[in-house]
Amino acid sequence: MLSVTTSARLLLRRHRPLPLPARIRNASRTSPGDISILGQKYEIDGTTNITQSIITKLPLRLHNRPAHPLGILRSKIESHFHDFAHLSSVHPVVTPAQNFDLLGFPADHPGRSATDSYYVNKDCMLRTHTSAHEVETFATGQPKWLLTADVYRRDEIDSSHYPVFHQMEGARVFKTDQAAIEEVKADNERLSQYLDQSNIVIEDIPHVSPTNPVQPTHDPAHSELVALNLKLSINSLLLKLFGGGARDAPLQVRWIEAYFPFTSPSFEVEILYQGKWLEILGCGVIQQLTLDNAGGYQCHLLLSARPHDSLGIPDNIGWAFGLGLERIAMILFGIPDIRLFWSTDPRFLSQFSENQITTFKPYSKYPACFKDVSFWIPEAGLHENDFCDLVRDVAGDLAEDVKMVGCR
Ligand code: DAH
Repeated sequence: MLSVTTSARLLLRRHRPLPLPARIRNASRTSPGDISILGQKYEIDGTTNITQSIITKLPLRLHNRPAHPLGILRSKIESHFHDFAHLSSVHPVVTPAQNFDLLGFPADHPGRSATDSYYVNKDCMLRTHTSAHEVETFATGQPKWLLTADVYRRDEIDSSHYPVFHQMEGARVFKTDQAAIEEVKADNERLSQYLDQSNIVIEDIPHVSPTNPVQPTHDPAHSELVALNLKLSINSLLLKLFGGGARDAPLQVRWIEAYFPFTSPSFEVEILYQGKWLEILGCGVIQQLTLDNAGGYQCHLLLSARPHDSLGIPDNIGWAFGLGLERIAMILFGIPDIRLFWSTDPRFLSQFSENQITTFKPYSKYPACFKDVSFWIPEAGLHENDFCDLVRDVAGDLAEDVKMVGCR
C-alpha cells in the first residue's frame, strides 16, 4: 500500500561484514542445489543472484491483465499495429547468448555484470529487455510482430525505477525485391499524408549520417526507405497515444541519433511533456547480424515446414523498436509512482477498465516516514544494488526511496 510509504536513508560505514546479501530463500528451493522458477527446476551456482521477491513477480504478467493500465496500454498499441502478430507469453529465463551475444553486445558490456542483471545460474538469466527474443522470433519467419513481456534489471529504489518492468518490442521485416520496395514506398506515402494532416510537430534528423551509418551489406536507398518507414510508423503510434490535444497545442516529437549494438542507424524518440523532453523508445534498422543469426536459428531448428519460411530472413532488411510500458502508462494514466502498478489494493485496481484510459485518483492519506540505517560494509565495498535487493526482500514495496547519505 503506497500510503504507508517509508523512506530509508543509508549511512554506510566500512570494515565489518554485512549480513548475507538478499538471496533465494526456502520457498523456491526444491533441493539445496536447485530453485524452481515457473515450475521449472534450475541448478544454482556462484553466479545465482535472483532474489525471493523477484521470483514472486515472475508469474504475475501484469501486461496480460485486460483491465490493468499495462494491459490497457498493450492493447492500445496492438490495435495500432493490428496486422502484426501479437506475442505476450514468452518465458522470462533466457541465456546470456539470447540476451546479449546474438544481438552483438560486446563481451565487456556493463549490462552483463551480476550487479546489473539477475542470474539464475551461469548459463541462464532473467531477460533484461524484450530484444532478447528478437532472433528466435525472426526465426519463425514472421515479418511483422509485437512482443510484450516483463523484463528484469537490478536497480536503485525510487519512484521511477523498479527491478521488474514491462517492455514491448516491435519489428517489421521487408523483402528487397522491386515489388516489395514499391510496397514500402506506397506505405510511406500513405503514412506521410496522414501525418501531414495531423496535429503533430516532428523535429527530425537525417535517416542516415556518417555517425549513424548504413550497414555495409545494405543498399543505402533501401536503408533510407526502411528508416523512413520506421519513423512514420512510430510517429503515427505516438499520435495515437498522445495526440488529441488542442489545435494550438500540437504533440511535439523529436528524433535523436542513438547507438544500440543491434541496430544501425539507431534512434531515440522523445516527446515534449509538461515542458520536458521525455524519452519514449529506442529503435533502428536491424543489424544484419541479428537477421543472419535468425537464419542460423531457422536452420538449427529445422523450421523449413513453418508457414513463413519463404521469407528467407537473412536476405531481408527491417526495423525494430523497444519501448517501456510503465513510462508511457505513468503519463497516460497520471500514475505518479512505478510501484503502484504492482498494487493489489482495490482502490487502485477498481479505477481501471478494459480499453479505457482514465486518470488515476490518488487515495493515500499517510505521510512518508524516514528511517536512517547504519551498518558496517565489507572492506571490498558494497554495490548499492545489492543493498536495494536486501531492502526489497525485507520491506517489499513499502520502501519508497533508498539514498546513501554518508560513508566513512
Ligand atoms: N532493448 C533496448 C533497451 O532495452 C530498446 C531497443 C532499442 C529495442 C532499439 C529495439 C531497438 O528493438 O531497435 O534499452
